[in-house]
Amino acid sequence: MKKYLSNYGGEVRKMKVTFLGHAAVLITEIEGKYNIIIDPFLTGNPAYPKDFELPKIDYVLVTHGHGDHVGDTVEICQKNGATVIANFELSDYLQKKGCKVHPMHVGGVYYFEFGKVKLTPAIHGSGIHDGENVIYGGNPCGFLIKAEGKVLYHAGDTGLTKEMELIKDVDLAFIPIGGNFVMDVDDAITAVDMITPKNVVPIHYNTWEIIKADPEKFKVEVEKLGVNCLIMKPGETIECKEL
Ligand code: NI
Ligand code: MN
Repeated sequence: MKKYLSNYGGEVRKMKVTFLGHAAVLITEIEGKYNIIIDPFLTGNPAYPKDFELPKIDYVLVTHGHGDHVGDTVEICQKNGATVIANFELSDYLQKKGCKVHPMHVGGVYYFEFGKVKLTPAIHGSGIHDGENVIYGGNPCGFLIKAEGKVLYHAGDTGLTKEMELIKDVDLAFIPIGGNFVMDVDDAITAVDMITPKNVVPIHYNTWEIIKADPEKFKVEVEKLGVNCLIMKPGETIECKEL
């Protein structure tokens, strides 16, 4: 099978990944200078590391319209002049809120200055709660990012889906395990079996009681599949050259 995300970028230099709790992932010093954040749910996120200071953000990638993923997107854009990367409908909404946007859609690829981004399918909702109204937020997605020669995958909020079989050659995957709204541990193990990333980080669990899950059980089972599992604490950083 042809690679779903062909080569892009060279060797890893300084790129680092920091988990900020729930589904928020910060990727810094890409090519030594670009900082991007995925699903920046900071304000009101019980898992956000206290006193953590965000660096200047260049791009905000948003998987879908739910509040625990859009989070502080508008504020980050206002403060940093950052550009949102999201599906067309969510981009349209965020543009009306004053953000610079780069609309994409599921299956689409674009080469940004920091790397290559592809939107992957996610089985979920994306309605945006704005006051009394729920605004259509387009299809939810995940992100495949290739930068500095490494492939990172953030699944977004999703149930288990056969489409994950198309996602290959991933160096670091962020996979939801908390159940109820997304895959539970058992389905997340099946997802990892399909994707077989080199490394996996469980996300979207234990933020609230309703998404309680045991990351240790997940780790034991995925490591039987030959996948290295990193249970990242909020605020923890990994150097991508070590992946
Ligand atoms: Ni959601
Ligand atoms: Mn969510």
